Amino acid sequence: MDQNLIYKNNSLFLDGLSFKEIYEEFGSPCYIYSEKTILNNLRRYQDSLKDRGLICFSVKANSNTNILKLISDQSAGFDVVSGGELAKVLYVGAQPNKIIFSGVGKSNEELVMAMQNEIKSINIESISELNRINLLSKNGKFKPNISLRINPEVSLDTHPYLETGSKENKFGISLDEVEECVKIIKNSSTLNLVGLAFHIGSGIESFEQLVPALDVTKEVYKDLSKFFDLKIIDIGGGLSHKKSLGEDLIELVISQVLKQAPNNAEIVVEPGKSIIAEAGFLLTRVQYIKKRNKNIVVVDAAMNDMMRVALYGAKHEIKNISNNEKTSNASIIVGPICESSDVFDEDSFIKVNEGDILAIFDVGAYGFSMSSNYNSRLKPSEVLVSDGQAKLIRNRESIEMLINNENIF
Ligand SMILES: Cc1ncc(COP(=O)(O)O)c(C=O)c1O
Repeated sequence: MDQNLIYKNNSLFLDGLSFKEIYEEFGSPCYIYSEKTILNNLRRYQDSLKDRGLICFSVKANSNTNILKLISDQSAGFDVVSGGELAKVLYVGAQPNKIIFSGVGKSNEELVMAMQNEIKSINIESISELNRINLLSKNGKFKPNISLRINPEVSLDTHPYLETGSKENKFGISLDEVEECVKIIKNSSTLNLVGLAFHIGSGIESFEQLVPALDVTKEVYKDLSKFFDLKIIDIGGGLSHKKSLGEDLIELVISQVLKQAPNNAEIVVEPGKSIIAEAGFLLTRVQYIKKRNKNIVVVDAAMNDMMRVALYGAKHEIKNISNNEKTSNASIIVGPICESSDVFDEDSFIKVNEGDILAIFDVGAYGFSMSSNYNSRLKPSEVLVSDGQAKLIRNRESIEMLINNENIF
């Protein structure tokens, strides 16, 4: 277990604060984040990139404004995929020249918003999008910086939902479309092609997995540099957060990328999980235990609060915050939602009693940001542990919030 996470007298502590105290103040379900872990991971990227690149935190992983502000204050940039995310990062004071906009389905409004704010790069994902931004930029007299997000046509050994760089995937411009893109940009009086981007998916465990996509992109970069003043290679995100791969995966991968990338290219990285997954915990209280061959432990968090297990079959460690003992009888830990997929662990061996508080680990990324109001449940609160203090950074939702946005005629 990490040094910032320890059991003392049968009580689990995070950065010097006990989960029990946090639970007593904020209740459950509740997301808890370690500021220290977020900053450490960010620093790893920044130290590795030195002055050769920019880290653009992938906002979809966690879009709490307090966390975005924390990241922005470290001079990092952002990778956004919607007008809402762009608005949020501008709201917390992000510099437009550190924001990139990815996504296969940007609307006219989103493209205009990005151009008005003169962001670092709008990453174009199709010929249709390129034609559209060409027209919108002429009409609005904008001169946007754009990059082409290449689909490098490589596959990644990960969950199919987490793979984004294979030929049949919806993401990016296929290699045989690049020539057509070049024609459109050459004939445009407004578009400024500044770089190339790719993102092959989540769960990358070594530099070697990135090599095929990097090689393809380097080739295209070389070809297109004959016509355009390219400056950026954006390698996307996707590095695994698993500590079992070694503490220095970020350093290893980035240093190799820097060695192999063209010297004149600025390297943009779009990490989400590897910054914030392990910084987050979901606290949940055991409601009921149903005695079976395999006991069914019903907790008060559900798939609407954290859907990664139901969606991807993701594995998340779960610990009892007041008892680190194991039992030989397996139990299944489930939420209260009316879906059989509302499961957090099919095979848990932790010791639990009704009323105990559990912590679900590594949920800082795609945890709260994927939460919903399914079953008309209130979204949980979020708490940041910072300098030995627990700060409420999002209130638990109220019944009024569930009702007020709807109209009865
Ligand atoms: C374009 C793009 N960049 C970056 C990321 C972040 O990936 P990860 O959280 O695995 O680092 C994603 C994730 O879906 C993405 O689609």
